[in-house]
Amino acid sequence: MCGIVGYTGTKQAYPIILKGLKRLEYRGYDSSGVALLDKTLKVFKKKGKVAELEESLIGQDVQAHIGIGHTRWATHGEPSDRNAHPHQSASGRLAMIHNGIIENYAQLKRELINNGYSFTSDTDTEVLLNFIEDIQHNNECSLEEAVRIALKRVTGAYCILLIDAQDPETIIAARKGSPLVIGIGKGEHFLASDASPIIEYTKEVVYVNDYELAIVKPDELILKNLGNEKVTPFITKLDMELAAIEKGGYEHFMIKEIFEQPETIYDCLRGRLDAAAGTITMSGVENNIEQLISASRIVIVACGTSWHAGLIAEYVIEELCRIPVEVEYASEFRYRNPIINKGDVIIAISQSGETADTLVALERAKAQGALIFGVVNAVGSSIARLSHAGAYTHSGPEIGVASTKAFTGQLAILNMMALKMAKAKGTIADEYYRKLLAELQDIPEKVGAILKNAGELKIIAEKYKNASDFLFLGRGYNFPIALEGALKLKEISYIHAEGYPAAEMKHGPIALVDENLPVVFVATKDSYHEKIVSNMQEIKARKGKVISIITEGDTVSPGLSNDVFAIPPADELLAPMLSVIPMQLLSYYVGVAKGIDVDKPRNLAKSVTVE
Ligand code: G6P
Repeated sequence: MCGIVGYTGTKQAYPIILKGLKRLEYRGYDSSGVALLDKTLKVFKKKGKVAELEESLIGQDVQAHIGIGHTRWATHGEPSDRNAHPHQSASGRLAMIHNGIIENYAQLKRELINNGYSFTSDTDTEVLLNFIEDIQHNNECSLEEAVRIALKRVTGAYCILLIDAQDPETIIAARKGSPLVIGIGKGEHFLASDASPIIEYTKEVVYVNDYELAIVKPDELILKNLGNEKVTPFITKLDMELAAIEKGGYEHFMIKEIFEQPETIYDCLRGRLDAAAGTITMSGVENNIEQLISASRIVIVACGTSWHAGLIAEYVIEELCRIPVEVEYASEFRYRNPIINKGDVIIAISQSGETADTLVALERAKAQGALIFGVVNAVGSSIARLSHAGAYTHSGPEIGVASTKAFTGQLAILNMMALKMAKAKGTIADEYYRKLLAELQDIPEKVGAILKNAGELKIIAEKYKNASDFLFLGRGYNFPIALEGALKLKEISYIHAEGYPAAEMKHGPIALVDENLPVVFVATKDSYHEKIVSNMQEIKARKGKVISIITEGDTVSPGLSNDVFAIPPADELLAPMLSVIPMQLLSYYVGVAKGIDVDKPRNLAKSVTVE
């Protein structure tokens, strides 16, 4: 979703901003633009990719030591040059970029129209900008003061960066609900939606909090709250490397991230899981163990792929800890006045830690007294900071829009959490606990073994790439993997796909089955295996094309399948960490075979920072 970059310092701003915008491309966008301030304010913007903006600026005067840049994901008004950011105020003096949604923009717009303003775009951003200019003009105050007054009247979410043609040094920034990181250099500052545009220049950063305003000059960074009181910036060190956000020889980020999983899962387990000693070390769990194991219920809140990780955790926690678990779409949970009792525990799962619906759902639950436990990948993100306790997945930056390595990291954390809680609660037999710890430790190696056979899935992908629909079926722990397989395929290949519990298939989807429908069975050896084999027979009898993900050594399923892909055996609780890998690979290879930009599929955003 929208990406923001800003620079003020001694270097040329444009190349830094352009590179930053390219680094933020993964978030998903439809247009981009820059505002550069030299002797005059120059604004350039273009519908389409950042490369198109770059091309259109060849030969233009882009000299400047201060500037702001933006990638826009349309909310108000179609993707177009006109609606792209930065916007300029009516007088031409101010330029602003914005990530988020101003909910009361229509009312503000009416007021401004009554005051004689007219608008060149359909955006809420231009409204906020002119509202700020109107205040600056009427009160004869500084831009900083005008922003502060304006933001007190604004409802919604925002991260804004403004420059003023009359102040060639300063960027004014503010946030509520949308992320903002400021990198501290020598005589220069970098601003961005996340650390990826900053990492190659400095590792010292400040994560700006909600309702804070930053006054950023080359040599000075002042943070204030909206009450005009100074706030001490909390400087943290980034622990990521530049290589982690580059492709490293792979054709796409998505395939790089799929292949990183043996290491990322290992990194997640490292220092936590000690199978030989029979221990799991997770301070976030330990510090809250009484509250966690005596919870009357656990509510898991998430969106997208993270929600699927939550569904698996529901099965695992209920099985091992005997605590009732509910899994909620954050967007539904936040709006339906949910019942939260004292003693409830909320587990929030989010790769980015910035998903707007998840964030607001948590704020509500926190205000009602629930313990919030965050399972987050992005260090220092809003959800991580809002949580009472948590565990980072340590999967490294995930750039491909479709989540892959973050998902297996989430499962690693949630499995360890369930095991630790079950042990403390006494609801797991020691022998089984030890067995699961040992198996969890072996998962990275088994993922590596699956990846060695990736070529087999490429061949299957070629065979079915022209199908118009796919059905994915699974049972038990593998049911959420069927959902995830369908989600991945539709995201990356634009093929319509549905995931279903295999038995539920008889209550509807079976009507779709004919010789043109590929049906992917997630059919690893587990307590449901015989049942899913019967479901395969039902599809085969109706001439559907059966593609089965099976456990090595299964001799029955291949006879019922048109295509099979075998994975190493694992306890059924942990099997999803393996069975998801062929789902990721299949969708990747189908997407590539269809010529789709798999890292940035149309309309999707990596980090959905608007509701
Ligand atoms: C977007 C992404 C998905 C992701 C979902 C939730 O839809 O494209 O890959 O699963 O958001 O994001 P989160 O960062 O909260 O896990």
